[in-house]
Amino acid sequence: MEVIATIAELESSLKPLKVKGLKIALVPTMGALHQGHLSLIAEAQKQADIVVCSIFVNPTQFTDPKDLEKYPRPLEHDIQMLTEAGCNFVFMPSVKEMYPNYPTPENWKIDLGSAEFVLEGEFRKGHYQGVTQIVFKLFDAVKPDKAFFGQKDFQQVLMIKNMVEVLDLDVQIVTCPIIREDDGLAMSSRNIHLNHADRANSLVLSKALFFIEDHYRTQSIEELLANSKAIIDSAPGVELDYLTIVDGDTLLPISSKMDINTVALVAAKVGETRLIDNVIIN
Ligand code: PAJ
Repeated sequence: MEVIATIAELESSLKPLKVKGLKIALVPTMGALHQGHLSLIAEAQKQADIVVCSIFVNPTQFTDPKDLEKYPRPLEHDIQMLTEAGCNFVFMPSVKEMYPNYPTPENWKIDLGSAEFVLEGEFRKGHYQGVTQIVFKLFDAVKPDKAFFGQKDFQQVLMIKNMVEVLDLDVQIVTCPIIREDDGLAMSSRNIHLNHADRANSLVLSKALFFIEDHYRTQSIEELLANSKAIIDSAPGVELDYLTIVDGDTLLPISSKMDINTVALVAAKVGETRLIDNVIIN
């Protein structure tokens, strides 16, 4: 695997491969890799000839400077995992490489639709402008045929698809399923911040979502929400930001079960760590 730090180097390494007609996949990450990330690499390997994984802790998408500072960065271990997974390139740029004038903000404001401002967008103001800004820069540097994202960040995939449409970008977005620990907790780079008690308490998030999934046919929306919230409330130290059942395109709460594209999403602080999770209902 080749480790690359600059856009110029990346472009010159990929150019001859593109000339040969090889299909390029991009898997953007912020590192601290786990099996969820590796599942994206594996799917990318199935669907393309060359896989580029990017590792970049993007400062413009963090709303809390403490969160940015404490974001885990086990770079050597990440490189080892990607090498073992058979990834072809890892792109690990510096902040100055991606944002030459950092910390002076660059102009970036695109219309991601009204779904930008709900759920994560309400709790993390400007988050999806930062996400789309860096994903656009990564698309521009790699020019991939396909880019792979996890359903774990459901709203993020929707925002990226909206960006691709608004800017008419020539890249196919592929969404991959959520990889979970055996007990149901969705894998996340942030899980390492959970202490022993938090780790046990964090299970109510996936339990609440599985409750909604299992009882969707038999309970009303009001009952589903009340019963799943009671599951969350049963754990001490879990502070709910939202637990909601929405239309997967608008992210607005559904009022009837006639909707064919339904998702239940949760976000909560478990101890000091903020976690998100979701299940697609049908
Ligand atoms: P990060 O949180 O590192 O996630 C990178 C990719 O891995 C995202 O597409 C995310 O949805 C996916 N992922 C994370 N946990 C997963 C799990 N348990 N199962 C399946 N996929 C999972 O998301 C970001 O980084 C950043 O916002 C980024 C897109 C890289 C832009 O900075």
